Amino acid sequence: MFSLKKKYSQPQAQQHQRTQQKSVRDCHDWLTLLISALVPLMIGIFTVVITIQQQSSANRQRQQDQRQADSLQKDRILSSCVDDIAKLLLTKEVATDNKTLLYIRTRTLSSLRKLDPERKRHLLLFLYESQLLQYDKGKRHDRLTLNLVGADLNYIHITKLNNFNNLSLPGVDLNNASFLNCHLPYSRFADSSMNDIKFTNSFLLETRFSRCSLERADFRNTTLAQVSFKSAILRHADFTRAWTKGADFTNADLYEALITEQQLQEAGLLDSARLPNGSFAMVQDKNLVVNGKNFGCHTKLPSAWSMKVNATKTFQYYRSSLNCYFRIANLSSLGTISIAQSIDVTDYSVLIGFGKAEYNFSGLFGGNAYAKITFFTSTAVKTGRQVMIGLDVRQNETETILFQHKCGEIPLDTRRLDLIVYFENIPQGRHNFAVFDNVRFSIKKKT
Ligand SMILES: *[C@@H]1O[C@H](CO)[C@@H](O)[C@H](O)[C@H]1NC(C)=O
Ligand SMILES: *[C@@H]1O[C@H](CO)[C@@H](O)[C@H](O)[C@H]1NC(C)=O
Ligand SMILES: *[C@@H]1O[C@H](CO)[C@@H](O)[C@H](O)[C@H]1NC(C)=O
Ligand SMILES: *[C@@H]1O[C@H](CO)[C@@H](O)[C@H](O)[C@H]1NC(C)=O
Ligand SMILES: *[C@@H]1O[C@H](CO)[C@@H](O)[C@H](O)[C@H]1NC(C)=O
Ligand SMILES: *[C@@H]1O[C@H](CO)[C@@H](O)[C@H](O)[C@H]1NC(C)=O
Ligand SMILES: *[C@@H]1O[C@H](CO)[C@@H](O)[C@H](O)[C@H]1NC(C)=O
Ligand SMILES: *[C@@H]1O[C@H](CO)[C@@H](O)[C@H](O)[C@H]1NC(C)=O
Ligand SMILES: *[C@@H]1O[C@H](CO)[C@@H](O)[C@H](O)[C@H]1NC(C)=O
Repeated sequence: MFSLKKKYSQPQAQQHQRTQQKSVRDCHDWLTLLISALVPLMIGIFTVVITIQQQSSANRQRQQDQRQADSLQKDRILSSCVDDIAKLLLTKEVATDNKTLLYIRTRTLSSLRKLDPERKRHLLLFLYESQLLQYDKGKRHDRLTLNLVGADLNYIHITKLNNFNNLSLPGVDLNNASFLNCHLPYSRFADSSMNDIKFTNSFLLETRFSRCSLERADFRNTTLAQVSFKSAILRHADFTRAWTKGADFTNADLYEALITEQQLQEAGLLDSARLPNGSFAMVQDKNLVVNGKNFGCHTKLPSAWSMKVNATKTFQYYRSSLNCYFRIANLSSLGTISIAQSIDVTDYSVLIGFGKAEYNFSGLFGGNAYAKITFFTSTAVKTGRQVMIGLDVRQNETETILFQHKCGEIPLDTRRLDLIVYFENIPQGRHNFAVFDNVRFSIKKKT
């Protein structure tokens, strides 16, 4: 096999060599052609590359010039804003003037819109140091507090500021901002949007974050003594090694927050809060209707109640051995009389929003007295649900006062409800008197 192969392979190799020689010659021709074509091509490419390089360096130059111009422009905006406000503040009589404050507000907001976070920080510190952003209950200085609601302070970074107390910044945007190693006691941030904010290693005492959105906020090593997180959204917030003594987490949403059992126990209040595992903390069983002490024993209504027609004259209080009731003895000559009370349920918004809130509405009703509840959303729109108690068969058939109650789910968007108690003269009615007492509206966790 082997010799046979060798024998035949000899002429094949020769032929191969010839072919190779030919192909080398061909190749050489091609190469010459190619090189003669390549040279102008190379020159072309070279020219293009050089041009692109020149262009990109020109672009870079232009961008740099643009950046410098932008930067100068921002410097000018900042310094003109600061100069302007400083001049105003030097004039003594404007220090407590609302119009000037409004001007400063407009000036600040429009400047903030054009500035970068670093310059925003300068402006903020300037306003704070000018005592325009310091909440002062004790009125130690006579300057009014500037309202910066709506200000864009996203991404500002403040570190190691030891004296930032009584800062007043409600209703602002502070997303992705940071206050590291700062002292912020008595500060107020209510209603602000502060997602991804960092307060790492800061000292906060009695600071208020009511209704703030604080998703993923970083409170590691932060002192949060007596801080109010009422109705705040704290989902995924990090409380590692934070000091929570006396903090108020009423109605806060702490879903998946990093907070220990001990930190929760040390907090002052936790009513109806949503806990890290998604369950709800205890809901206090309290009457949300303001009745005052010994309601019914006075001819005057507690101020939480309002009435359209002044019916105080018509009320005669009725005293039994045990209690007093509100009572109208003769409805015959009267139109419908009603008394109303508005009840705020914002402190239950998280529980309500998750469909976990149930109401218990009750009271003592007699004769032609009845009560109605209407639920409203935060924008004062009716949620379409009404609840009525009273005027039922039992009440129709007795002269005595009866305890009545109803329970049910609170509509999801409810923030407020109107309670109206009616004393109605029903022409064909059995009774011509109306009496009521102890009306009660409470919220509990649905089981
Ligand atoms: C400024 O406005 C507030 C509320 O708008 C008002 O209570 C206060 O009296 C005003 N102060 C002056 C000095 O006009
Ligand atoms: C800061 O607020 C606290 C509490 O309201 C008050 O006692 C204190 O006097 C204020 N401090 C300043 C510097 O305004
Ligand atoms: C904060 O910054 C991070 C990273 O840049 C971004 O993913 C996130 O959406 C920002 N958060 C907010 C609330 O703007
Ligand atoms: C919190 O404090 C401890 C001890 O003081 C320190 O070791 C740690 O780095 C701090 N954590 C953060 C996130 O700053
Ligand atoms: C959820 O967490 C709370 C507080 O940490 C705890 O008391 C409760 O038992 C937990 N519930 C469930 C269903 O795990
Ligand atoms: C209603 O009438 C009573 C007695 O006439 C009077 O004392 C009271 O001030 C009146 N209330 C209102 C709100 O007008
Ligand atoms: C109720 O008032 C009407 C009209 O004022 C009167 O006619 C009627 O006798 C009164 N009824 C009683 C029980 O006092
Ligand atoms: C509703 O409240 C009334 C009065 O406090 C109470 O007697 C009743 O048991 C409550 N009902 C429910 C279902 O909790
Ligand atoms: C109670 O009596 C009034 C007047 O007679 C009547 O309009 C109403 O339907 C009665 N209510 C019930 C539940 O029977």
